[in-house]
Amino acid sequence: INNGLALSPQMGWNSWNHFQCNINETLIKQTADAMVSSGLSARGYKYINIDDCWGELKRDSQGNMVAKASTFPSGMKALSDYVHSKGLKLGIYSDAGTFTCSQTMPGSLGHEEQDAKTFASWGIDYLKYDNCFNTGTSPKERYPKMSKALMNSGRSIFFSLCEWGQDDPATWAGDIGNSWRTTGDIQDNWKSMTTLADQNDRWASYARPGSWNDPDMLEVGNGGMTREEYRSHFSIWALAKAPLLIGCDLRSMDKVTFELLSNKDVIAVNQDKLGIQGKKVKKDGDLEVWAGPLSKKRVAVILWNRGSLPANITAGWEDIGLHSSAIVNARDLWAHSTHSGVKKQLSALVEPHACKMYTLTRRKA
Ligand code: DGJ
Repeated sequence: INNGLALSPQMGWNSWNHFQCNINETLIKQTADAMVSSGLSARGYKYINIDDCWGELKRDSQGNMVAKASTFPSGMKALSDYVHSKGLKLGIYSDAGTFTCSQTMPGSLGHEEQDAKTFASWGIDYLKYDNCFNTGTSPKERYPKMSKALMNSGRSIFFSLCEWGQDDPATWAGDIGNSWRTTGDIQDNWKSMTTLADQNDRWASYARPGSWNDPDMLEVGNGGMTREEYRSHFSIWALAKAPLLIGCDLRSMDKVTFELLSNKDVIAVNQDKLGIQGKKVKKDGDLEVWAGPLSKKRVAVILWNRGSLPANITAGWEDIGLHSSAIVNARDLWAHSTHSGVKKQLSALVEPHACKMYTLTRRKA
């Protein structure tokens, strides 16, 4: 969508994966604090996004949505002022149906204009728009209404569709939203993460600056996967130009989690200005090569071992769009080392459920 936002995929944090409905204004403020003090905001993470369960069950006498008094007593305007004072942006959540999924709040169906104006008046910068209790109508009917309402709201608001892949959103959502879900919900385990990576990959050709495929938020740091599995998760999401929305508790993040989420070179692949989604280009059983072009004629490559034994994985130049005579320098983005003058193919031993990720730069002949 042409609203000037999401020229690269959105980066930030969302409350759902770790906290579900256990949220309040103190948590949101502390998360904003931690985003800055940890150094993650300096790496590009800007959005602090509140998910389901922030509001009262009933609208007020004027029909406005209201923040839940027991958990957000200062109100959303005060919270956005706080988040903005930290140099960050505040996101909120609603639903294109009669209730949100938790059933603790009203949805925005039929109240799009009013709710968009309310969010704008609170200083909200981002709306995630869910798909529960949708009266059985197509998202193609319901989501454009909120898109238009946000455009009319007087504030620049990022529009994140959460229609769970219903009705092949990649084929229509680019005109109305900044990102759309290509999958159901992620779970904090290897099987879920790898399944979503593959489902999202089918729609790679539709991603472009302003409009991205969304295979759901990150689980890195939530404890259900190993370090190498989380490294794979983060690497593939980055290459696929997926939103990088952190889903762990930033206030108690450990060193390993920080090192994964803060890798500048991996983030640079995600945020590259060419904006072309990398994809799976080769598969030999459990051994895969994912790749995509970057600006300045560079190429990003992942060698991914989805099997249970260590294995050698090879990406030939023909697999990743390089001319057979190309000579490249291969920067290993996780080992922080460079192999110079590589010809014809890139090969490495990769541990089970692990990956190697590289940026290839062409050398002058
Ligand atoms: C379903 C969405 O897909 C999740 O990301 C989350 O927003 C929950 N609903 C909240 O109820």
